[in-house]
Amino acid sequence: MAKVIAVTSGKGGTGKSTICAGLGYTLAKQGHRTLIIELDFGLRCLDIMFGMEGQIKTDLTDVLNGKKKVLDAACQVPMASNLSILCAPKTLTTVNAEQIVEICQSVKKYFEYIIIDTGAGINSRVFEIVEQANLILVITTPDPVCIRDATLMSDEFYNRGNKSQRLIINKVSKKVVGSKLISHLDQIIDDVGVQLIGVIPDDFKLSLSTGTGEPIPTDSLALRAFDSISKRLGGELVPLSVKIS
Ligand SMILES: Nc1ncnc2c1ncn2[C@@H]1O[C@H](COP(=O)(O)OP(=O)(O)OP(=O)(O)O)[C@@H](O)[C@H]1O
Ligand SMILES: [Mg+2]
Repeated sequence: MAKVIAVTSGKGGTGKSTICAGLGYTLAKQGHRTLIIELDFGLRCLDIMFGMEGQIKTDLTDVLNGKKKVLDAACQVPMASNLSILCAPKTLTTVNAEQIVEICQSVKKYFEYIIIDTGAGINSRVFEIVEQANLILVITTPDPVCIRDATLMSDEFYNRGNKSQRLIINKVSKKVVGSKLISHLDQIIDDVGVQLIGVIPDDFKLSLSTGTGEPIPTDSLALRAFDSISKRLGGELVPLSVKIS
C-alpha cells in the first residue's frame, strides 16, 4: 500500500513542485512505483519539468468529473519508467479533501509512493488535504519570511494533531548560510521545530533540467540530495551530508 506524502509550504515559490519532481524521479530510479498528483490548479508545471509539454491528454479534471479512472488519467513519465504523474487542470477547479482521499485510496495498491504537490498558501482546503497524508514534507528556503511561514504552517499541523512532519530546507547556498540573513541551518530547524529530512542546494543544474524537461544530470548536487531523501523516506539510515556551493 502506497505511502502518501504531501509536499507543502507556507510561502509560494519555495520549490514544492521541483522537490516533488526530484523526489519522484529518484524514488522511481530506486525502483519504487511512484505517482505524483499535482494540485496546483491553473498552474500546471510537472509536464514541463518532465519534458512532456503538449503530450498531456488527460488530467485531474477527467478524474474529478468521472470521465477517467486515476490509472487511465495518469501519464507515465518517459525519463523514469516507474513514475507517473496526474497533472493539475490548466484551469481553476475546486477539489476537496474527500475527493483526494478517494483518488489516493483507489490507486494505493498500485504504487509504493503517492506524492501530492499542494499549491502555495495557508488555507483550510490545503490543510484538509495535506492532513490526510501519511507524511507531510514542510518546505522552506533559508529566507526569514519563508521560515516564519513554514513555522506557522507546521504549528497548525501540530495543533490539528499531525505529528508526522519532516522539514526540507531548499535552495541552500554558501552565500546565504552564514550571512546576516541566516547564521546556521540549525537556526532554521529550531525555528520551524520539525525534524530535518534533507537539505537541497541551490543548484542551477536543477532549475535548468526542470525548465527544459531533461533528466537532472548525475553530477548535480541537488540530485544527490534527492537520492538521500528518497532513501530516508524508505527508512534507510543515510548520513546527512550537506554539500552546497
Ligand atoms: N534547489 C533549487 N535550486 C535552484 N533552483 C530551484 C531549486 N528549487 C527550486 N528552484 C527554482 O525555484 C523556482 C520555484 O520553484 P517551484 O515552482 O518548484 O516552487 P513552488 O513552491 O512549487 O511554487 P508555487 O508555490 O508557485 O507552486 C523555479 O524556477 C525552480 O526552478
Ligand atoms: Mg508549485
